Amino acid sequence: MDCVEIRGGKPLCGRVEIQGSKNAVLPILAACVLHEGTSRIDHCPRIQDVFDTIVILELLGCRVWWEGHCLAVDASQISQWQIPAQIAARMRSSILFLGALLGRMGKAELPYPGGCVLGARPVDLHIKAMKDLGAQVEEKEGCILAECRMPKGKEITLHFPSVGATENIILAAVRAEGVTVIKNAAREPEIGELCLFLREKGADIREFPEGRIEIIGGVRLRDSRHDLEADRIVAGTYMLAAAITGGCITINRMPENHMESVTAVFENMGIKIERIGCDVIVDGSRKRRNIGFLETAPYPGFPTDLQSPMMALLAVTEGESRIRENIFEARFKTAHQLKAMGADIELKEREAIIHGVPALHGTQVEAAELRGAAALFLAGLRAEGTTKICGCHYISRGYENICGILSDLGAEIVTVHQ
Ligand code: UD1
Repeated sequence: MDCVEIRGGKPLCGRVEIQGSKNAVLPILAACVLHEGTSRIDHCPRIQDVFDTIVILELLGCRVWWEGHCLAVDASQISQWQIPAQIAARMRSSILFLGALLGRMGKAELPYPGGCVLGARPVDLHIKAMKDLGAQVEEKEGCILAECRMPKGKEITLHFPSVGATENIILAAVRAEGVTVIKNAAREPEIGELCLFLREKGADIREFPEGRIEIIGGVRLRDSRHDLEADRIVAGTYMLAAAITGGCITINRMPENHMESVTAVFENMGIKIERIGCDVIVDGSRKRRNIGFLETAPYPGFPTDLQSPMMALLAVTEGESRIRENIFEARFKTAHQLKAMGADIELKEREAIIHGVPALHGTQVEAAELRGAAALFLAGLRAEGTTKICGCHYISRGYENICGILSDLGAEIVTVHQ
């Protein structure tokens, strides 16, 4: 899917079941290489980042197969520790194989990771942590080479609670000698889910408040089956779809306990959220209020991944709203595309000042990253006329069957092959 055309203006109504979490499954798939046996993951999303990770697993020597929506990985025969550049360049999460391969093979060679362009996105914290665990790490010609016969547990304090660095430390520490303590670890729900997945395999990992994680290394792992939590960012995107089109969407499998900062913003804006059993009904038909000020922050703060989609909603919400992006410095690029659709947005370094306009208009826009693409889909659903969105391969990285789902909810959306 490279381009889609959306004829906007239809209130979306109906029911959506939320796919398994992308940011949880990617470290879990890397964790599968730690175990010389089979791991099964239920509710695994069929998205491009998962397909690309499967290619990496197969290159390393794993057997991978689908059993419906369950993905099975047999890592008993791993023979490789190198990840080729073409495949690693497709996504940033390829860096997670650094810790996983060090743990399993005692060495790893991989290029600097790719993925969405969201500013500098260095991997210094990952590399420093691997050195702390005893690895020799060499960086040359765009490649990271790490080697360590047996990682050794250590106390590691992260100066910023990086999600990926926390995951890499956990992965390397599970088979290390001794105890690893992470201080100021990221507290995103996906970290808790990686720890749970590893505990289900027999690992000894303890999580404490304020971002302290203890991993007792060297425990033998076993075959396991894990049911993946639903994707909180995808859930937030469909909530926004109800709000921006003035529709009403019933969300099934919404990970509400991990979405407090998001639902609080919706409720402050006057968007009705009703819980009935396992469903959450988002009714966007009432008039919304603007939000004043919103800033992104590590969990439990407002997620940076919903910042651009939220900007699309604020672009058509009367009054002035300000967003401050504290995580990724280059995450305001989508604002320029929204402006081409008639949005009134001023950018001042890390802040965006949004003056709500009554209507957006369809035009041709270009997605430059995953969540920015989601924002453009939302804007297109609301805009008058037809919006052509190019660069849609980005949205396939994280959203399963988004065109089919939106169409079932009443959107007029078609894919266009160029
Ligand atoms: C993960 C998520 C991504 C989300 C982000 C923040 C996955 C696959 N991706 O990305 O969707 O937007 O968390 O919630 O789970 N940093 C450094 N040095 C490092 C590592 C990070 O300076 O070694 C900086 C980054 O440039 C960025 C900030 O720390 O400014 C956050 O990055 P991090 O938490 O590591 O995000 P990712 O794991 O890349």
